[in-house]
Amino acid sequence: MTAFAFDALNGALEGAAPEVILDAALQRHPTGLAFACSLGLEDMALLHLIRSRDLPIRAFVLDTGRLHPETLTLLARAQRDFGPVEVYVPDRTALEAYVNGHGLDAFYESLELRRACCAIRKVEPLQRALEGATGWITGQRRAQSTTRTALQPFEQDWAHGGLTKVNPLAFWSLEDAEGYVDRHAVPVNPLHARGFPSIGCAPCTRAIQPGEDPRAGRWWWEHPEHKECGLHPAKAPR
Ligand code: ADX
Ligand code: SF4
Repeated sequence: MTAFAFDALNGALEGAAPEVILDAALQRHPTGLAFACSLGLEDMALLHLIRSRDLPIRAFVLDTGRLHPETLTLLARAQRDFGPVEVYVPDRTALEAYVNGHGLDAFYESLELRRACCAIRKVEPLQRALEGATGWITGQRRAQSTTRTALQPFEQDWAHGGLTKVNPLAFWSLEDAEGYVDRHAVPVNPLHARGFPSIGCAPCTRAIQPGEDPRAGRWWWEHPEHKECGLHPAKAPR
């Protein structure tokens, strides 16, 4: 698709429901779609939506090796309840070099070491998970973060060779996601009820206080504009 075609499609899909965006994605990619499922509340809703409609879309989790035990328990439950959810783990050689060279928790020391850890534990495994895919799906929402306010339903992912990236929940509010999981009794991470609206790796996620930004607990020691792990780099300029 050309940049013009992406713009036209996004214009037509402004405000659209997740089902409509998923159908538009499947029309263009009847096979070859892969869903990156973080097991967060939004992604559990999306996993239910995909599997309850029997859509031909693979799902995978990036198991960084530093996820909360509650998240791993939910992964096993998701595999039981919703069918195959693939798991990708970090490259052993790169991980050993990082941990032995810098320390297990070196990501607290600098932005560079934090990004290097995310590169090994998330970004490289994502590249392997997307091998052979023609498009990928995320659970990102516009309202989630200052870095996501311009999120579009369809994007061209220059970090992955121009692959189509689809964000079916772009227009959902948090209440939309919570309403969906309640209505359909979708299992969710018990950490959400303990003050964790956004869950990543255990050492890089803390609970937030009422009134705090939903992503305030992610990499809380960094500036807000740095709070991305490298899975979703900024768009290349046109
Ligand atoms: S992020 O900065 O960690 O990427 P967030 O947790 O809000 O932010 O996740 C945004 C989207 O990235 C998720 O909806 C999902 O599509 C993808 N994602 C994040 N973490 C993972 C993971 N561990 N496994 C698979 N997908 C992930
Ligand atoms: Fe490493 Fe933290 Fe990034 Fe997880 S979120 S990959 S532990 S720096």
